[in-house]
Parts: sequence; structure tokens; C-alpha cells
Amino acid sequence: MHPEFLSQVKELVINKIRVSIGKSNLIEEVMSYSALAESKMIRAGLVFASSRTNKNLHEDSVITLASAVELMHTYSLIHDDLPCMDDDNLRRNQPSSHIKYGEANAVLSGDALQALAYEIIVNDLRMNPGEKVKTIKILSKACGKNGMVYGQYLDIQNENNKDVDKDMLDQIHNLKTGKLIECSVMLGQIGSDIKIDLFKEFASHIGLAFQITDDILDVTQTEEVLGKNKNSDIKNNKITYVDVLGLDGAKEKAKELTELSLDTLDRIDISGKDKLKNIAKYLISRQN
Ligand code: IPE
Ligand code: IPE
Ligand code: MG
Ligand code: MG
Ligand code: MG
Repeated sequence: MHPEFLSQVKELVINKIRVSIGKSNLIEEVMSYSALAESKMIRAGLVFASSRTNKNLHEDSVITLASAVELMHTYSLIHDDLPCMDDDNLRRNQPSSHIKYGEANAVLSGDALQALAYEIIVNDLRMNPGEKVKTIKILSKACGKNGMVYGQYLDIQNENNKDVDKDMLDQIHNLKTGKLIECSVMLGQIGSDIKIDLFKEFASHIGLAFQITDDILDVTQTEEVLGKNKNSDIKNNKITYVDVLGLDGAKEKAKELTELSLDTLDRIDISGKDKLKNIAKYLISRQN
């Protein structure tokens, strides 16, 4: 079940994204088409949930940070579906961006979503300059050449590679998906004065559990419920956790990682962790 909390987050974030994109030209229309489409808002939810333990971040800035992460995530999905990447034609219950608007516009809208993520951080009215620099450092590192983009490179590079083992797969998953999830939890801690190492550890467990669940759903769920193409990994000859551990083994691994993440949270001596716990559990019980 989609937690009620994520629906509330979604409303705030969708409003911010709608206003930030605007509708004065076609590229803005293409950006809105994907960014405002039906989605789970897990990363935004993580920013909010993490911020519940942090009294030094204004609610308006939480919305900014959550929106920035979702803009970045949407850009990665638009590019992920392109013919030169996973070549998928369905995303968020509608034709993928390049199917509806053509490849050039899809690429450009992804580029613009990325730029907009940084722009809304810079324009935030509550964070101080130091906090904004820190935010941009965390976000750019998570998404860039040693983060999500490198993970996407490795993912594509290893299509048809039967020798991908569990360690390699962990690395790909952690980079292409885990980094942005980790970043979401860390951005909820902007301005906080506590050590955030354990939050990072928590996030790395749920990030991997999230992508393992995505791989499981790719083969077990219907296209209608997924809102995206089923069997995309098989089509592209990608080795997934289901290949390496089997379906039950993959489910077990995701469960173990979630338990580890909850143990890690228990070690953080701070109040307000309930929402993070709920999202961690939802990530492996979700249906899409
Ligand atoms: C899908 O992410 C892409 C992956 C990193 C596996 P989500 O499953 O969070 O997709 P949306 O945002 O709900 O569409
Ligand atoms: C996507 O992983 C990761 C990023 C977009 C960075 P997948 O390729 O497995 O995501 P889906 O299944 O297409 O949503
Ligand atoms: Mg992919
Ligand atoms: Mg894909
Ligand atoms: Mg997938």
C-alpha cells in the first residue's frame, strides 16, 4: 500500500514542480509531461521523512530539496527509456517522453530538468549560502560521473555480460539507484548538527533493497500495475538479482537489507524516525 504520508508529500512537491517548470514553451511542456505524471515520490518522501529528525531545516526548504531530487530522478528516467539506453516505450502509465515528443525533445527536457534542480536550490529563500553549497555538493556527487551516471554506464556496458557477479551487480545498483536514494536521506539532514554516518548507512541498505525490488517487479508484476514496461531487463539481457539469487533469494535479500536498515536506524539516538521506518518497509512491499 502506498503510505498516506507519500500522498501528502506528493501534493506539496507536485505544486512546487509545476510552478518551477511553468508552461511558456514546448520544452517546459515536455518536462511537465514526465515530472507531473503519476509516480510514487519515494525520494521526495525520504527527504521529508529524514527531515523529521532535523529541526534546523525550514519546511519550505524541505519542499525545495524534495522537488530537486524528484526533478533529477525524472531526468534520469527520461534518459533511461531512450532507444540508446533501455529502449522502453511506457513510463508512469503513459508513453515514454521520446515516444510522445521525439528523442531530441526528450533528451533536452531531461537536460533542463537537471538544470532546474540546481536552480530551485539556488533560489530557495530559507537556506543560507553554506547550506546551498553543501546541498549542491551532495546532489551533484550523487548524480554525476562517479554516481548515478556512472552506474547507468556500467548497467548498459554490462548488457549481455554473463559474467556479472553479485559484487558487480551491487556496485551497479548502488551507483545507478542507491546514490540518489542516499542523497535524499542526506538532504533531509541539511543544517543538522548530528553525525549523519548512520543515516548514510541506513540509506545504502534501503537503496539496494529498492533496486532489487525493482528487478523482482520487472518479472513478476503486470505492465498495467507497473505503469512501465515489464521484462525490460530480460529484453536487454541485463543480469539482475533475480538471475543471481533466484526469485526467492532476491526477495530474501531485500528483506534482509531492510532489516539491516531498521537496525541501523535503531542505533541513531534521535526522535522522529517513524516515517523513515515506514518508507523502508514500503520499499520492499510495494506493488509497483
Ligand atoms: C524507477 O524509480 C527507477 C529506478 C531507479 C528503479 P521509481 O520506481 O521510484 O519510479 P517512479 O518515480 O515512482 O516513477
Ligand atoms: C533505472 O534503473 C535507474 C535510473 C534511471 C538511474 P532501471 O532501468 O531498472 O529502471 P526502470 O525499471 O526502467 O524504471
Ligand atoms: Mg536502466
Ligand atoms: Mg529502465
Ligand atoms: Mg528496472
